[in-house]
Amino acid sequence: MRYLITGCAGFIGSNLTDKLLQAGHEVIGYDNLSTGLIEFLKEAIQSPRFTFIHADVMDREAISKAMKGVDAVFHLAANANVRYGTQYPHKDLEQNTIATFHVLEAMRANQVRKIVFASTGSIYGEAAIIPTPENAPFPVQTSLYGASKLAAEGLIQAFCEGFGFQSYIFRFVSILGERYTHGHVFDFYKQLLSDPTKLHILGNGSQRKSYLYIQDCLDAILWAMENAQDKINIFNLGTNEYCEVNHSIGWICDHLNLSPEKTYAGGERGWIGDNPFIFLDCSRMRKLGWKPKLDIRESVIQTLRYLTSNPWVLDQRV
Ligand SMILES: NC(=O)c1ccc[n+]([C@@H]2O[C@H](COP(=O)([O-])OP(=O)(O)OC[C@H]3O[C@@H](n4cnc5c(N)ncnc54)[C@H](O)[C@@H]3O)[C@@H](O)[C@H]2O)c1
Repeated sequence: MRYLITGCAGFIGSNLTDKLLQAGHEVIGYDNLSTGLIEFLKEAIQSPRFTFIHADVMDREAISKAMKGVDAVFHLAANANVRYGTQYPHKDLEQNTIATFHVLEAMRANQVRKIVFASTGSIYGEAAIIPTPENAPFPVQTSLYGASKLAAEGLIQAFCEGFGFQSYIFRFVSILGERYTHGHVFDFYKQLLSDPTKLHILGNGSQRKSYLYIQDCLDAILWAMENAQDKINIFNLGTNEYCEVNHSIGWICDHLNLSPEKTYAGGERGWIGDNPFIFLDCSRMRKLGWKPKLDIRESVIQTLRYLTSNPWVLDQRV
């Protein structure tokens, strides 16, 4: 198959690129390198089945040109940082919603009709039902990131209805593992490297969060594409557990053999739009026959191993 991956140089996109190349597919990788790292494509670039296009999804001509002869699109490019939504309110709308519209229009112009979309558990806001199923009551939005992703999901669904597209929409919890470059493990590890005696925590540390290992996430995506054939396929992706931020800090400190003095910013939420309890009901995906190989603690440790052996990554992102 010939696949186009937007956001191919990012954490998830670069792992997906490698996986599809290993499976013998052709991959067109598309990225503006705003947060992605070309180093993550070091192996992919060696493959004659990989083409890298350094361009922005907002460039309608370039994205349309890249789409020629493609069987399916994995649309991962986004402003993936939920935390700064209120500082740059236009960014989520532009990079997550309007960019998705451009991808869909480019697909339509090139008769490409299958799209895989990286959505998020953030679309549920502070959910009324926990664990939260895919068909939870229409959610009240608490972050610009979640709102922009939900809007993008809506556009994708309308293209399925209007233009005969087929879609796979995955609402991920936070992903951990190799090439992880943003999130709490990254922040804590970076703080502890610069001063192993202190750790500052956003919120009160009691926030309950869910995580999934990158390879489990990719296995789920590919498994669903093979085994679910509705017009619109929506799946939550996570494990059957959650952890408190404080638990995660305990695993990190144990693994690094540190006992820092902890200070807390306080409050139930780490930032505006932070959801104090994320736990998704992933039984729809499990019923399809997928289950994750690593639990949350193992994923945190795996991430630390990656960061420890790739210290250069820490200087690439703030
Ligand atoms: N990492 C997670 O925990 C997580 C959780 C839920 C959803 N997601 C979603 O998964 C996708 C990938 O996330 P990630 O963690 O790999 O993030 P990332 O920042 O590592 O990757 C995003 C990639 O998209 C590229 N990009 C951004 N805007 C672009 C544009 N306008 N044109 C071209 N390229 C552009 C960046 O350079 C980067 O390589 C995102 O859509 C994100 O919202 C991620």
